[in-house]
Amino acid sequence: MKVLIHQTQTTAADCVAGLFADRLTQTPDTVLGLATGGTMEAVYERLIARHQDGTVSFNQAQSFNLDEYVGLTPDHPCSYWHYMREKLFNHVDLDPDRTFLPHGDAPDSEAEAARYEAAIVDAGDIGLQLLGLGANGHIGFNEPTSSLASHTRIKTLTRSTRQANARYFDAFADVPRLAITMGIGTIMRADEIVLLAFGAGKADVVAQMIEGPVSAACPASILQMHRKVTVVLDEAAASGLALRAYYEEVHPEVRDPAI
Ligand code: GLP
Repeated sequence: MKVLIHQTQTTAADCVAGLFADRLTQTPDTVLGLATGGTMEAVYERLIARHQDGTVSFNQAQSFNLDEYVGLTPDHPCSYWHYMREKLFNHVDLDPDRTFLPHGDAPDSEAEAARYEAAIVDAGDIGLQLLGLGANGHIGFNEPTSSLASHTRIKTLTRSTRQANARYFDAFADVPRLAITMGIGTIMRADEIVLLAFGAGKADVVAQMIEGPVSAACPASILQMHRKVTVVLDEAAASGLALRAYYEEVHPEVRDPAI
């Protein structure tokens, strides 16, 4: 794992947007794995800015999002379809026919999950996967105790996840109980993964993910088994790391880009 500790959220988000832009420049037809959540907004803002200034094009890329709530239509304001249109798709040149999320309103959610997994396989799997981190260690909506080998399927959300995401809904009771999510095995097939986490509220789980045992109790800890993962943190999110000084020594250029 490459652990990059930034002094601010601003430079951390710049870093992740830069990694995406570099990948798209080198491999314009990359299959992108996209994420939702508050943390990602800063990344998408920067990608939109880079697209507008002509330094990034998505026109040969395709994208698969991690997850969607079961029961929400794509035009529901709390759906991840809606989030993605608002935060990214409407502002860049991704081909709408090549941007994919699970359909939360499919009549048969399990069949929809299987169809989505097959579509990812058909696309050749994810080239560059963007991940956020749930406060309980989830990636996508793979809640603690998820199979570390899982494929896209239905997961029941924990109460803590529903509470964390209730801010987007009118009431806690409106937060769906189920989601369709890429599995951990699906995510692990990605060629390259970039995970971004901000804030003191994520410090404990960031430490478990990077320095704890690999365990389904903290699904993100499986990333220790992936060959090419970059974890990008702000100082607050890094504050629980026992080996923080080591990561800073390995990557001095993060604090001093002149190096
Ligand atoms: C949701 C998403 C996750 C995301 C997490 C963190 O639960 N399904 O993919 O990583 O939120 O969100 P935030 O960035 O708002 O902390």
